Amino acid sequence: MSAPTRLVRSMLYVPASRPEMIAKAAQSDADAVCLDLEDAVAPDQKAASRAHAVTALTTLDFGSRTVLLRINGLDTPWAYRDIVEVVEPAGRAIDCLMLPKTRGPDDVRFVATFLDQVEAHAALPRRIGIEAQIETASGFVAIREIATATDRLESLIFGSGDYAASMRMPLASIGEPDEHDALYPGHRWHAVMHGIVAAARAAGLLAIDGPYADFTDDSGLERACRVARGLGYDGKQCIHPRQIAIVNRVFSPTEAEVAWARRVHAALEDATAAGRGAVAIDGKMIDAANYRMIEETLRRAEAIASRSGRTR
Ligand code: COA
Ligand code: MG
Repeated sequence: MSAPTRLVRSMLYVPASRPEMIAKAAQSDADAVCLDLEDAVAPDQKAASRAHAVTALTTLDFGSRTVLLRINGLDTPWAYRDIVEVVEPAGRAIDCLMLPKTRGPDDVRFVATFLDQVEAHAALPRRIGIEAQIETASGFVAIREIATATDRLESLIFGSGDYAASMRMPLASIGEPDEHDALYPGHRWHAVMHGIVAAARAAGLLAIDGPYADFTDDSGLERACRVARGLGYDGKQCIHPRQIAIVNRVFSPTEAEVAWARRVHAALEDATAAGRGAVAIDGKMIDAANYRMIEETLRRAEAIASRSGRTR
């Protein structure tokens, strides 16, 4: 698969209707910034927000942050104009389009084909990627087909609010546990969250978790990040700048994890040189499977180290 291996621990949403907020997002510590034309924008503000998005994309410096534009769903009257009116004049500044409420592979292929034409017409120098939100029942049952629909796809993103609505699951607040989680003997989002990571990994994509709505609840956010990280997610969306530091921290390997990864790496190099596959470290068996486990830790640590040299 050709998807780039971006470092996306945190992805900050910013409503495209709020130019002053977009300017702050462009300077934030988020690895990625997503200008939203969908649910954060009221229907009568859609057209004006496209113009704000174009101004922001063509005048602001987003540095090395990944820049996304979330268009409206393909079941609305707005999506095609979002692409025409923003990507045509400002596509050079967009890394990926985010497609909400992705219903199946045809939705992704429609956007990919549409982009073929807009990119050719506007003579854009590079291809724009697609990130598909999995947040409906139909998206969940079609995850595998969605994940392989086009080589423009870079990420699958979970959205718990819309998913709950689509599944008719009661949910008090987006991303937060409520009394139903206390009753259910498991993790209510396990099937879809695990399915997204498996489909993303099988197709060589990133897996990003959806946001946590209560932006004053740091410990709840941290817990949600840890659950997502434990399931294999690469990062998590944010809706407020104060969430970024927590998300970046939880999705970065700790010093202890990096030190362990280096020890395992060195021990297995020595073992291989001595003709052995398995060795013991601190009373634990280590073999080639551990090598594969620590590879991602070392890759991420290296990506974070090279990112810290970026200009802001
Ligand atoms: N991006 C950039 N800056 C943001 C921001 C965001 N997503 N959310 C808040 N800020 C800024 C505010 O402009 C404010 O800046 P200031 O101190 O210079 O005035 C500062 O952070 C503190 O904001 P605060 O007063 O705590 O929040 P608010 O009441 O202004 O906004 C929300 C709260 C939830 C409306 C706002 O965070 C928001 O719109 N988030 C994104 C929503 C979204 O895109 N949803 C779609 C995906 S689920
Ligand atoms: Mg949604």
